[in-house]
Amino acid sequence: MLQKLKHSGTVPHMKKYYSIAFKFSILLSLSPVAQAAELFDAESVRLARAGSKGMIVADDAQAAEWGVDILRRGGNAIDAAVATAFGMAVTRPHFASLGGGGFLIFCPAPRAGKPSDCGVIDFREKAPGAAQKDMYLRNGKALSRLSQNGALASGVPGVTAGLLMALEKYGTMKRQELLSAPISWAQKGIRVSTNTEYAAKHRWNEMNAEARRVFGCNQTTRPCRAGEKLVQPDLARVLKAISKAGAAGFYEGNVGRKIASGIQAAGGIISMQDLSGYSPTVRTPVRGQFKGYEVVTMPPPSSGGTVLVQLLGYFDRAEKAGLLSQGFGSALSLHTQIHGMSLSFADRAEYMGDSDFHPVPLGRMLSENYLDERWKTFVPSRANFPDGPGVLLPEPQHTTHFSVIDSAGNAVAITETVNDNFGSGFVPPGTGIVMNNEMDDFSLQPGVPNLFGLVGAEANAIAPGKRPLSSMSPTIVRDSNGHARIVLGAAGGPRIITSVFQTLANRIQFGMSLVDSVAAARVHHQWKPSHVRIERNTFSPETQEKLRLLGYSLEAGNGLAVVHALERFPDGRVVGAPDPRGEGAAIAE
Ligand code: DON
Repeated sequence: MLQKLKHSGTVPHMKKYYSIAFKFSILLSLSPVAQAAELFDAESVRLARAGSKGMIVADDAQAAEWGVDILRRGGNAIDAAVATAFGMAVTRPHFASLGGGGFLIFCPAPRAGKPSDCGVIDFREKAPGAAQKDMYLRNGKALSRLSQNGALASGVPGVTAGLLMALEKYGTMKRQELLSAPISWAQKGIRVSTNTEYAAKHRWNEMNAEARRVFGCNQTTRPCRAGEKLVQPDLARVLKAISKAGAAGFYEGNVGRKIASGIQAAGGIISMQDLSGYSPTVRTPVRGQFKGYEVVTMPPPSSGGTVLVQLLGYFDRAEKAGLLSQGFGSALSLHTQIHGMSLSFADRAEYMGDSDFHPVPLGRMLSENYLDERWKTFVPSRANFPDGPGVLLPEPQHTTHFSVIDSAGNAVAITETVNDNFGSGFVPPGTGIVMNNEMDDFSLQPGVPNLFGLVGAEANAIAPGKRPLSSMSPTIVRDSNGHARIVLGAAGGPRIITSVFQTLANRIQFGMSLVDSVAAARVHHQWKPSHVRIERNTFSPETQEKLRLLGYSLEAGNGLAVVHALERFPDGRVVGAPDPRGEGAAIAE
């Protein structure tokens, strides 16, 4: 039990949240719908914000305030997003480090009454040039510790190049201005967050000496505690180099040299050439329709958008078959959702990877005929999984998602990650940069589960320059006139996709408010392992018993992703809904 809690990603303040949830669940012997709407009210309502101009919903109030300050100075949603991201690289180094990667979707407001094109920037990490398909195998066996800890675990980072590309393509302000506050925070110090303390404790044993020097307190003998001051002079120098020279300040020169030589001295393979050769990729979003809304979301190398659109498609079929009439939280509605999750995650494991390297049959996976055929496997009276059980693994966190809208209605959804807490635990000496362990998102060997228990196949095998398959799902939902209505995404590995799906299902299908849609209890299933994760102390005992009778094996757990969402109504009002499961905040302009 202790072990489970330790790995559950539940940070201390969540204890308060779960105890609120628990008290409510005892006090209220409720219908599932009332349970969902009210269980998490206390925390989610406290966190929610309303406004009528711009809004940022993010994991860190200080960085989001900085982004909103940029909006007030006349910046647009992209300027604000870039400012927030560089801010979080300082305030939330355990998941927003420049040593990670991510995805960004930008939907400009309609022009002259016509919907604008949305753009995707893929700044996911790439496998280094010297990477090999079997690089993590020893005597034919996959050694996950090599893809998860230390210098060999990192892909070539993309955050700096991605943010600067977004700024250049769609922004209006100078990087020097956006970087000014983050530089001073790194120089003068920030207060360590609860989440960062938790992450550092969780990863302390795997951190290299430099990471402990940078993120340790009390003469680096222990992880810094929440509230302690953390000064990051090396990171300040890196940010200054970026301010001065753009992406070259990170990927080349002194900083690039320190990253490459630090990694290689510790047995890693990222070279100067890998760094200077890194470039983000502009992609076309995956699009779907759901009850009159257009869902604009991530294409490969994320599986997020494709699986999300499939899940919404299955949900639509469930509705047409009358299976959702008992509403949110009913056993039948959950049964339909879990079945859809098993179908989609089975596809993910087989077909999905970086489409620049392996053809992903997107058209077929999203075609109405295909979804019709697959949905025929739904059996109302029992669970009907495509296959048997997998391996249960702990579930470390972190990633960060934030949602931005400006007063003109331009919307940005951005999710970044270093994969695990503090990524690989490796900081190249003198840089202050937390390197990712995104190589673990590749399929090391067919059928071998990764950090999140996900399995994969040839489509997601390692190759030089290839990007590992992701679940990150930054998503913008637009109305029929092309106005961004809901901007959302999440942190939480594969639970990102199912949580984004359930948030949209709650809002659009079940008609909950956005705040309730984010807070409501969730389930997660990913085909393998075969159990269904059900949020602890949620859903009625009757509902759970019905699911067991259908043949689902339920596992109570915490940490079903952290969704940060906002909604802009046609009259311009905006509601920000940070997830009460996280430490986030909504800041209104
Ligand atoms: O790209 C992915 O799908 C994973 N690297 C995301 C990891 C994650 O969300 C960790 N959790 N909070």
